[in-house]
Amino acid sequence: MPLLNRRRAPAADEFVVAARSEEVGDGVMTAVKIGGRKIILTRDNGKVYAIDGLCPHAAADLTQGSLRHWQLCCHEHNYCFDIRSGRIVWPEDEVYRLRRYAVMENDGQILVRLSPPL
Ligand code: FES
Repeated sequence: MPLLNRRRAPAADEFVVAARSEEVGDGVMTAVKIGGRKIILTRDNGKVYAIDGLCPHAAADLTQGSLRHWQLCCHEHNYCFDIRSGRIVWPEDEVYRLRRYAVMENDGQILVRLSPPL
Protein backbone atom coordinates (compact mmCIF):
# COMPACT_ATOMS: atom_id res chain seq x y z
CA MET A 1 0.00 0.00 0.00
CA PRO A 2 1.47 3.37 -0.94
CA LEU A 3 1.96 5.97 1.77
CA LEU A 4 1.49 9.42 0.33
CA ASN A 5 3.26 12.04 2.41
CA ARG A 6 1.68 15.47 2.61
CA ARG A 7 4.38 17.32 4.53
CA ARG A 8 2.77 20.61 5.42
CA ALA A 9 1.09 20.62 8.84
CA PRO A 10 -2.44 21.95 8.41
CA ALA A 11 -4.12 24.55 10.56
CA ALA A 12 -6.54 22.91 12.98
CA ASP A 13 -9.73 23.56 11.06
CA GLU A 14 -8.33 23.64 7.53
CA PHE A 15 -9.14 21.24 4.70
CA VAL A 16 -5.89 20.14 3.08
CA VAL A 17 -5.28 18.22 -0.11
CA ALA A 18 -4.62 14.61 0.86
CA ALA A 19 -4.61 12.80 -2.48
CA ARG A 20 -5.75 12.90 -6.06
CA SER A 21 -9.15 11.32 -6.65
CA GLU A 22 -7.71 8.55 -8.79
CA GLU A 23 -5.37 7.51 -5.97
CA VAL A 24 -8.32 6.37 -3.81
CA GLY A 25 -10.38 3.41 -4.97
CA ASP A 26 -13.39 1.48 -3.75
CA GLY A 27 -12.44 -1.12 -1.15
CA VAL A 28 -8.77 -0.13 -1.20
CA MET A 29 -6.88 1.59 1.60
CA THR A 30 -4.62 4.46 0.61
CA ALA A 31 -2.46 5.70 3.46
CA VAL A 32 -1.49 9.37 3.59
CA LYS A 33 0.35 11.41 6.18
CA ILE A 34 -1.05 14.78 7.13
CA GLY A 35 0.74 16.81 9.78
CA GLY A 36 2.55 13.68 10.96
CA ARG A 37 -0.66 11.67 11.37
CA LYS A 38 -1.36 8.58 9.28
CA ILE A 39 -4.78 8.72 7.66
CA ILE A 40 -6.49 5.99 5.65
CA LEU A 41 -8.47 7.11 2.62
CA THR A 42 -10.90 4.72 1.02
CA ARG A 43 -14.23 4.56 -0.78
CA ASP A 44 -17.41 2.57 -0.38
CA ASN A 45 -19.79 2.77 -3.35
CA GLY A 46 -17.81 5.76 -4.57
CA LYS A 47 -18.15 7.78 -1.37
CA VAL A 48 -14.79 8.70 0.12
CA TYR A 49 -13.92 8.24 3.80
CA ALA A 50 -10.97 9.43 5.89
CA ILE A 51 -10.09 7.30 8.91
CA ASP A 52 -7.33 7.56 11.47
CA GLY A 53 -4.60 5.01 10.90
CA LEU A 54 -4.51 3.92 14.55
CA CYS A 55 -6.92 1.32 15.86
CA PRO A 56 -9.03 2.75 18.71
CA HIS A 57 -8.61 -0.48 20.70
CA ALA A 58 -4.86 -0.59 21.28
CA ALA A 59 -3.37 1.66 18.60
CA ALA A 60 -2.32 -0.97 16.08
CA ASP A 61 -1.67 0.21 12.55
CA LEU A 62 -5.01 -0.21 10.76
CA THR A 63 -3.33 -0.15 7.38
CA GLN A 64 -2.19 -3.69 8.24
CA GLY A 65 -5.82 -4.75 8.65
CA SER A 66 -8.30 -5.86 6.05
CA LEU A 67 -11.06 -3.92 4.34
CA ARG A 68 -14.13 -5.56 2.79
CA HIS A 69 -16.61 -3.05 1.44
CA TRP A 70 -17.47 -0.90 4.50
CA GLN A 71 -15.93 -3.17 7.15
CA LEU A 72 -12.40 -2.59 8.35
CA CYS A 73 -10.89 -5.28 10.58
CA CYS A 74 -7.75 -4.75 12.63
CA HIS A 75 -5.09 -7.42 12.28
CA GLU A 76 -4.06 -7.23 15.94
CA HIS A 77 -7.16 -8.52 17.83
CA ASN A 78 -9.61 -8.77 14.91
CA TYR A 79 -11.90 -5.97 16.05
CA CYS A 80 -14.03 -4.82 13.12
CA PHE A 81 -15.47 -1.38 12.42
CA ASP A 82 -17.95 0.19 10.05
CA ILE A 83 -16.06 2.92 8.17
CA ARG A 84 -19.35 4.68 7.34
CA SER A 85 -20.25 5.37 10.96
CA GLY A 86 -17.07 4.52 12.86
CA ARG A 87 -19.08 2.09 15.01
CA ILE A 88 -17.68 -1.22 16.13
CA VAL A 89 -19.12 -4.29 14.38
CA TRP A 90 -17.28 -6.96 16.38
CA PRO A 91 -17.09 -7.61 19.26
CA GLU A 92 -20.59 -6.27 19.69
CA ASP A 93 -20.23 -5.57 23.40
CA GLU A 94 -17.33 -3.13 22.98
CA VAL A 95 -17.70 0.62 22.61
CA TYR A 96 -14.61 1.62 20.64
CA ARG A 97 -15.15 3.85 17.61
CA LEU A 98 -12.98 4.68 14.67
CA ARG A 99 -11.73 8.23 14.58
CA ARG A 100 -12.97 9.65 11.31
CA TYR A 101 -12.38 12.99 9.64
CA ALA A 102 -14.34 15.34 7.44
CA VAL A 103 -13.49 14.71 3.82
CA MET A 104 -14.57 16.21 0.53
CA GLU A 105 -13.76 15.72 -3.11
CA ASN A 106 -13.32 18.70 -5.34
CA ASP A 107 -11.89 19.12 -8.81
CA GLY A 108 -10.09 15.78 -8.84
CA GLN A 109 -8.66 16.15 -5.36
CA ILE A 110 -9.53 14.68 -1.98
CA LEU A 111 -9.34 17.11 0.91
CA VAL A 112 -9.33 16.19 4.61
CA ARG A 113 -9.89 18.26 7.74
CA LEU A 114 -8.31 16.80 10.88
CA SER A 115 -10.08 18.94 13.42
CA PRO A 116 -12.61 18.49 14.78
CA PRO A 117 -12.85 14.75 14.12
CA LEU A 118 -16.31 13.43 13.24
S1 FES B 1 -5.35 -3.02 18.41
FE1 FES B 1 -6.83 -3.22 16.89
S2 FES B 1 -8.17 -4.73 17.63
FE2 FES B 1 -6.75 -4.49 19.21
